[in-house]
Amino acid sequence: MGFRIVVLNLWIGVFTILLRYGKASTHWIVTEDGKIQSQMDSVFSLKRPYDLMALMQQEQRAMLVEDLKEHLMTQKEEIDRREDKETNLEDKIYSTDEDCIIAGKPLTEFDLYFSTVILFDSKELRQAIVNDCMKEVSTREKYKKPNCTEIIELDFSMHAFEHLMGVKNRHNLSMSAEEGLLQTVSSGVDIEEFGNAVREAMKKNKTSWMLFNMAAYYWREKGDANNAIECLRRALHFSPREHKDIALISLGNVLHRAHFSEEAAVIVRAAIDIDPDNAISHYTLGNIYAVLADYNKSVVSFENALKVQPDFKNVEQHLHAVLCHSKLEKALEAQHSSLQRTLSELREYRKQHEFWLKQHEKLLSEQAPPEVKLEQRLEYEEQKIRESLDGRGQDCVQFQQNGHTVLSCNMRREAYYQGTQTQVDLSLNLQLIQAVESRAGRLGQKVADKMADQCHRS
Ligand SMILES: *[C@@H]1O[C@H](CO)[C@@H](O)[C@H](O)[C@H]1NC(C)=O
Ligand SMILES: *[C@@H]1O[C@H](CO)[C@@H](O)[C@H](O)[C@H]1NC(C)=O
Ligand SMILES: *[C@@H]1O[C@H](CO)[C@@H](O)[C@H](O)[C@H]1NC(C)=O
Ligand SMILES: *[C@@H]1O[C@H](CO)[C@@H](O)[C@H](O)[C@H]1NC(C)=O
Repeated sequence: MGFRIVVLNLWIGVFTILLRYGKASTHWIVTEDGKIQSQMDSVFSLKRPYDLMALMQQEQRAMLVEDLKEHLMTQKEEIDRREDKETNLEDKIYSTDEDCIIAGKPLTEFDLYFSTVILFDSKELRQAIVNDCMKEVSTREKYKKPNCTEIIELDFSMHAFEHLMGVKNRHNLSMSAEEGLLQTVSSGVDIEEFGNAVREAMKKNKTSWMLFNMAAYYWREKGDANNAIECLRRALHFSPREHKDIALISLGNVLHRAHFSEEAAVIVRAAIDIDPDNAISHYTLGNIYAVLADYNKSVVSFENALKVQPDFKNVEQHLHAVLCHSKLEKALEAQHSSLQRTLSELREYRKQHEFWLKQHEKLLSEQAPPEVKLEQRLEYEEQKIRESLDGRGQDCVQFQQNGHTVLSCNMRREAYYQGTQTQVDLSLNLQLIQAVESRAGRLGQKVADKMADQCHRS
């Protein structure tokens, strides 16, 4: 929609004015004989050069403000559209994700410190040892504990992973008791009776890797990491290579429970090296990796456990719980970083909005009083019309009105008018017309004055 600007309304009682525009020089003057010539010293260039500049700046500012506004609007839309507003992401994932549904409960509700043991190959042998020990001491009144350091000194062993911090600082470790562990090894046995039996047996055979392993079970059940590790160091030292995994899994459990889970992973991997076909080792490693938040490796470990033993109870559930948890963490992290981004964008948005407001205020404040402003505007538009060679202003028409020659031009709305309020637009138009009229009168006067001045001089 264009609006009509009456560009010039010259009162020409004396002169017939030929309006010329579209010349590059654009400066014109009415000569004595009433002709208009292009001239560098035009009324316009001399009159208010500063204002023209200001107007141009103002126009730039207006465009900047409009650009900013549009930028702010898109930014706001984008921020609004972002999917980080979900307040109950956790519940949503638990109730919709496939793995979460199969898992049945969050990973945090699984026991990732589940005690594991590798049993001696032969159950009969195992039972024989226990029974044998029991018989020997069944008559004793007071049970004593199986003290491995008492049995044999072992300052250092190549096989005992002495370099690990957990092993080095074994005196300092604390672990939770592995209650019920002995029942797995030998059901129905009394723990103190068992401990005492192992102790007596160890006295007889001071280098039995089996007995050291048994003693370690006692200390694990008791939650005594130091004594358990002392026994396990000896068990590792005396174990034939192919049976070292039994002591390694025990040591892995102790270190894991003592919160040396990374070292526990090293130990359990060593156990797997010895016997890759033991599902217990893979399962133990899966739990350790889950605690270490190394979910990919945890999943692989549980998968390995299932490969070795497809009917391994609960491993499938663990596997899905880890997958579920890993997705949940990813989603929460994504939401977190999205919120961080949104936050910084909102800050940026506020900054830009303030800047926009300032510019907008400036835009308004730099505007001269309406008449002056609109006069400047007009002048500027005229200038543009006259300077433009692109057809703008070409739909100007010259006509007679009340004995005046009127040049009227249709101009396209400038981009920066869009988005400002219609109200403002309308009042602007009205004012424009008024200003044009008053200005036209003065311009006519000026021309007359100039003519008079020139006549006077000559
Ligand atoms: C085990 O024996 C050592 C050395 O004889 C002793 O220092 C330690 O206190 C004993 N530990 C227990 C739990 O009896
Ligand atoms: C061992 O424990 C003591 C106190 O229980 C503590 O002061 C010391 O720092 C611990 N040492 C290590 C290596 O953890
Ligand atoms: C001690 O125990 C180990 C393994 O448990 C066995 O191989 C060895 O023969 C035993 N030694 C004696 C003297 O009984
Ligand atoms: C876990 O696996 C996924 C896909 O298999 C991969 O994108 C991601 O980077 C892995 N994470 C780690 C910590 O290795």
